[in-house]
Amino acid sequence: MSEQHATIVPREQLDFGLDQDIPKYWMDNDPFKTRFFDAMSTLFPQGEKFFITSVREYRDQITDPKLLQEVKDFTRQEAQHSLVHRHYNDRLKKQGIEIDAIEAELQQRFFVDAPKVTTARQRVGITAALEHLTAMMCTTFFERRELLDSSDARVRAMYAWHAVEEVEHKAVAFDVLTKVAKAGYWSRVMPMVTVSFGFPLTVAGIMNHMFKVDGFSRWQRAKLWARGLWWFYKPGGLFIPTLGYYLAYYKPGFHPWKLQEMPSYGTWLDTFQRTGDAIAAGNALHAAGH
Ligand SMILES: [Fe+2]
Ligand SMILES: [Fe+2]
Repeated sequence: MSEQHATIVPREQLDFGLDQDIPKYWMDNDPFKTRFFDAMSTLFPQGEKFFITSVREYRDQITDPKLLQEVKDFTRQEAQHSLVHRHYNDRLKKQGIEIDAIEAELQQRFFVDAPKVTTARQRVGITAALEHLTAMMCTTFFERRELLDSSDARVRAMYAWHAVEEVEHKAVAFDVLTKVAKAGYWSRVMPMVTVSFGFPLTVAGIMNHMFKVDGFSRWQRAKLWARGLWWFYKPGGLFIPTLGYYLAYYKPGFHPWKLQEMPSYGTWLDTFQRTGDAIAAGNALHAAGH
C-alpha cells in the first residue's frame, strides 16, 4: 500500500447547501448522535489552525520537495475545512451554542498555553496523533450504514468530503514528525497518550454544553449520556471497531499508509471527478456503504 496511496487534492468552493433549512438533529433525529458530530465541528477551526501552525514550524527544515508540496496541499485542505466548518458552526450559533466562547477557550489552549509548556516537536507530535484519530474516525465511521442512512444528505456530504481529504493527508504531520523533527518511538507515542484523554474529554464537555442549551434537564442529560455511551461503546458500537486502528499507532515501525484506506474512498473520488458535485459524491459514498 505504501507506494500507491491516495494523493492530496485540495478542493475549494464546494457547496453543501448549509444555508438551507437543515433539521436541528440531522442525524437520526437523535440529540446525542447529532451533538457528537456537532461538537467535533466546533473544534475544527481552531484545531486545524493548530495543525497547520505546528506543521509549518518545520517548513524551513524540509528538504524533500515531495513532502514540501504535501505540506502545502495539507495546509490548503485544512484551511478549507476550517472555512466550511465555520460556516456550519454559524448554524449552531443561531441555535444558541456559544461558539465564540468555545473558540476563545481553544485559542487560549492551543496558542497561548501550549507553546509555554511544549516544544515544537511535541506540538507536531500532538498534531500527528490527532490526525491519526481523525483518519481512524473517517475510515471506520464511514463504513457504517447506520450512520450514513440516518443523516441529512447535506451534512453527510460535508463530513464525507472532510473524511476523504483527511484520509488523503493522513501521513503529512506524521512524516514531518518522524522525518524532519526526527521523533523516535516515545516522542511519537507519548502525545498520543495525552490526546487519547484530552480529546474525548473536550468533546464531552462541549456536548454537555449543547445539551444544556437544548434545554435538557439534568435527569434528561443523564439519560442521554447513558444511552449515548452505550451506542458508542456497546459491542459492535462505534468505538470497538476503531480499536485495532487506534492501537496500530503504538506499533514500532508504524506508518499511516500501512493502514487501510477508507473503504468507499474510490467511489467518492470517481463520482466527484465525474460530476464536480460534492453532495452527489456524498450520496454515492452513502450508497456504497455497508
Ligand atoms: Fe481537516
Ligand atoms: Fe487533517
